[in-house]
Amino acid sequence: MKKQIRQFALLLLLGSTTVTLHAQEKKHITSETPAQKEKRMAWWTHDRFGMFIHWGLYALPARHEWVKHNERLTNEQYQQYFDLFNPNQFDPVSWAKQAKAAGMKYAVLTTKHHEGFCLFDSKYTDYKATNTKAKRDLVREFVNAFRAEGIKVGFYYSLIDWHHPDFTIDGVHPQRPENASDSVYARLNKGKDMNKYRQYLRNQITELLTQYGKIDILWLDFSYPGKNGKGKDDWDAVNLLKMIRKQQPGIIVDNRLNLDEYEDGADFLTPEQVKVEELAQYRGKTWETCQTFSGSWGYYRDENSWKSTHQLLELLIGSVSKGGNLILNVGPTARGVFDARAQSALGNIGTWMKGNSESIYGCTYAPENFKIPQNTMLTYNATTRRLYVHLLAYNQRLELPGYHGKVKYAQLLHDNSEVKFTAEGDNMILHLPEKQPDMEIPVVELVLN
Ligand code: GLC
Repeated sequence: MKKQIRQFALLLLLGSTTVTLHAQEKKHITSETPAQKEKRMAWWTHDRFGMFIHWGLYALPARHEWVKHNERLTNEQYQQYFDLFNPNQFDPVSWAKQAKAAGMKYAVLTTKHHEGFCLFDSKYTDYKATNTKAKRDLVREFVNAFRAEGIKVGFYYSLIDWHHPDFTIDGVHPQRPENASDSVYARLNKGKDMNKYRQYLRNQITELLTQYGKIDILWLDFSYPGKNGKGKDDWDAVNLLKMIRKQQPGIIVDNRLNLDEYEDGADFLTPEQVKVEELAQYRGKTWETCQTFSGSWGYYRDENSWKSTHQLLELLIGSVSKGGNLILNVGPTARGVFDARAQSALGNIGTWMKGNSESIYGCTYAPENFKIPQNTMLTYNATTRRLYVHLLAYNQRLELPGYHGKVKYAQLLHDNSEVKFTAEGDNMILHLPEKQPDMEIPVVELVLN
């Protein structure tokens, strides 16, 4: 099962990177100019750091948000999670405060994941939070709480739906047959009508985009075109996107609608759970890498592969140093809280961001003529002309190759304390404090000439 998920993740990655047509050859859906697009996305490219929240019925089994697929559960078997869902500690204000304290500027919540359960009060289904013991529209409360903290609001909506009766059984569906012929699929799908599902999709996205005020981001997930898969035609993606743009002209939409052949079929690429080194290939493009604390997206009780604070900061700094955004995921428990491991990770990120966020917001990769010193990551703010050297491994002496003559002043970012430097040929030598400052990854701010 894990292998299958990995295969689909690979497909996703390929889908987002195989841009073979040149920009001028690509088709267009709207008439927006590149300058208009840049303006529309300016806040997002500036803010760099967001929170993903995967929450749904899968928090109860607590063993992967794909549990229905992995264990081939039927709607009947899955029903117990709906019946027992009772998030009586749900406190979106505390979620929002934690996101804000961590330095996250936007948040994207799963309004519906592949399991089909809706956290919002949709009039097109009974399979929703208002009909559980939660008895309320959890999306509305999320929106209100995050907006109140000044955090931009985004909706994740799964194109896939393993509960809807008209969503045809395909190769990823929990009820998929093993190595089956077309006729087996046809028999299984007798009576299912994707036209009705397409309409459901449109109706629900319309609800989300017209009844909750201004929505900043829409994160649709995902397409897997080809045999026994689903893609743009299954979603009527072109018309769907036109509708989305009309309902929310400022909205920022991800790239998982399978519209790669269109210049404006997506606003950003979504490399999922990739290593920092792999992000180099996206230079010059607009992208956001989505990452987890421990591997899965939904709350997974027994997963013990949690990243360290150092690793999480490397992901954040590394994303910006390659010119993109990071959206870091939290999977709240079925009670409705961030578990202790997530809370402590967010707190640690917040401590670092408090002292160093200037090297994240508004930053991107360093200009070509600045080499990356050993064991560091560079980010750069073109407006203030400051270069940020992130010290991944600490040494009192740091050689900056070829930097001599390019720097006016150097200081530690978190306390603005001066760092002296000398020259050795073309190189600049930084003389840092003997003892590492109390920062997981100290940052040196260089004021450029
Ligand atoms: C994948 C997975 C999913 C997760 C998402 C986040 O497509 O299906 O569980 O929501 O990526 O990027």
